[in-house]
Amino acid sequence: MAAVEVRTDRFVLRPWRESDLDVLAQAATDPHITSITTVPATYTTDAGYAFLRRMTELSAGGVTVPRAIAEQATGSVVGHISLRLRDLDLGRVGLGYWVLPSARGRGVAGESVAGLADWALHRLGCWRVELCIAPWNEPSKRVARSAGFVREGLLRSWQVMGGRRSDVEMFSRIRPPAPEPDDD
Ligand SMILES: CC(C)(COP(=O)(O)OP(=O)(O)OC[C@H]1O[C@@H](n2cnc3c(N)ncnc32)[C@H](O)[C@@H]1OP(=O)(O)O)[C@@H](O)C(=O)NCCC(=O)NCCS
Repeated sequence: MAAVEVRTDRFVLRPWRESDLDVLAQAATDPHITSITTVPATYTTDAGYAFLRRMTELSAGGVTVPRAIAEQATGSVVGHISLRLRDLDLGRVGLGYWVLPSARGRGVAGESVAGLADWALHRLGCWRVELCIAPWNEPSKRVARSAGFVREGLLRSWQVMGGRRSDVEMFSRIRPPAPEPDDD
């Protein structure tokens, strides 16, 4: 799993590399990203390298698969997407993501989320892909819908987000069971 790369029309979702350090400096300027992810709120070179090391360790551990979203045409990294495998043995995985402010509004998140969800459902063989989205996060809810996810409901006090207990809206995509064979 550590080396897996997933391709969409425009992007390759690939492991983070040490040479991606400048991307973290840009991501750290966005308070939305730093408030709900582990991107360091106060960027330093050391904090950036620590983030990249953690991504490599998580990949090797096999419970979370973090991937940089890189443009196929230029190689530029424009965001991050992560697959959580904690409940894979139950057939469920989760996704988290962010996109650099300079790359937003071009469908980066929608295409990457759709591509990694397709991969999880059809190549990894899981049955359900989940997105937990804060109720105020309208852009992320639009990403979910554009990637074919369906809103299921509000989970009250579900997790800590940005340092405080938060409700989340649960969105999912599922793999339909194969049809039963005809009796006749
Ligand atoms: C949410 C986020 C990932 C969206 O990335 P993106 O690449 O700009 O998303 P897309 O271009 O695929 O846009 C998806 C939809 O959101 C809409 N959108 C984008 N920014 C928006 C905004 N500020 N307000 C409302 N809608 C917005 C787009 O118009 C598009 O809607 P459409 O498909 O109906 O036209 C990005 O804003 C981000 O990184 N936010 C901070 C981190 C975060 O919230 N991560 C998600 C945690 S669940």
